[in-house]
Amino acid sequence: MELNLRPISTIRKQTLNFENCPTKTSDEQIDVEKLVLRKYEDLHTKLKVNKNLPELLKEKHRNFLYDSITYLSSSYEVLDASRPWLCYWILHPLSLIGIQLDNRRKRAVARFLAKCQSPKGGFGGGPGQIPHLATTYAAVNALVILGTEEALNVIDRKKLQDFLWSVRQPDGSFEMHENGEIDIRGAYCALSIASLTGIMTPELFRNTAEWIVSCQTYEGGFSGCPGMEAHGGYAFCGLAALVILNKGHLVDEKALLRWLVQKQMKLEGGFQGRTNKLVDGCYSFWQGGAFPLIYSLLHAAGNTPKKHLFDNGSLQEYLLVCCQNPNGGLLDKPGRNRDLYHTCYTISGLSLSQRFVDTTSILGSKHNEVMSTHPLYNIRPDFVRKALVYYNGLGLPTEDQSAT
Ligand code: FPP
Ligand code: ZN
Repeated sequence: MELNLRPISTIRKQTLNFENCPTKTSDEQIDVEKLVLRKYEDLHTKLKVNKNLPELLKEKHRNFLYDSITYLSSSYEVLDASRPWLCYWILHPLSLIGIQLDNRRKRAVARFLAKCQSPKGGFGGGPGQIPHLATTYAAVNALVILGTEEALNVIDRKKLQDFLWSVRQPDGSFEMHENGEIDIRGAYCALSIASLTGIMTPELFRNTAEWIVSCQTYEGGFSGCPGMEAHGGYAFCGLAALVILNKGHLVDEKALLRWLVQKQMKLEGGFQGRTNKLVDGCYSFWQGGAFPLIYSLLHAAGNTPKKHLFDNGSLQEYLLVCCQNPNGGLLDKPGRNRDLYHTCYTISGLSLSQRFVDTTSILGSKHNEVMSTHPLYNIRPDFVRKALVYYNGLGLPTEDQSAT
């Protein structure tokens, strides 16, 4: 199915009504709306001359990502403790635009990730760094995307299980690293890692679902820990974690859905992460990724939605018109620099906005289509299947602590 652009007259009508009460927040929103509206105005002016709809600059994004495997600018120095994330942010969007690394590069990335594995189990932010749940999640996803026997065998599953037990708390929550912060990312990362690598046991996740449910806020989204502010990143973690646990029915899905749809911005078409904050391309996945999961919950409850639960055309419009750097790479919002994190999550968001169950709806030409992503792990479903078959075939590593 082909999608149409919103008429520019419709977009112009969506500017913020600040009710004659300007605040720092409303001023910032108005500034962003001006930048975004200019992008849409330019597009519609060009459309009067030629009928070309916005194009996904696949070849440019491919080059930006591919070049980043071997060279990163000094602006990435601050991510020295996030190097497995850099691998995942490069490999995943490349895989969604259909690009596989050659075997030499696959081997080099797998061997680099092996150096990030800690003798205590789990992966640190770089060689010699302490193991951390977020970098372990990124390393496992990256290795599963690589998918070679060498890559899949990098993971020491017994030690990984020990690491997960070492960060588990008695109430079922998880700290991000030993003596680190406890938040809902920990629960999601632990569940994603354990389920993908076939080391998930009921004991490891006893009370985790109840702890996650206590993070759903009065707004309907999820916060990082009980009593805090609902945020898209945390909402995705909470919902995906509950679905992995097969406890999605514990969510107040009506409240979550209402909050989620309200996070889609009327003029911009993209999502904000939390109430009264600004649109950002990365929330196309963190907020957008929740919709296929809610679909599965509603479907299981016999209330199958017939179409997208959000405006998937406006999201594609925002991503294609406002988030692409013409030289490759994608970004948060107009005026910002491209970066690997935003390239990963904007292309992931584009992917899920292009499909609903088994139908595709693409803004622009068929060339704009990207491959599908698994809404629980945010890697391609074929990679998920391969990892599950491989690791579950190996059985649980021996001496799970639950037995003691
Ligand atoms: C606010 O940033 C950001 C957060 C409160 C947390 C975001 C969490 C995630 C993106 C999920 C991470 C998931 C895993 C798997 C580790 P901000 O104040 O700069 O942005 P905002 O103004 O858009 O809220
Ligand atoms: Zn962002």
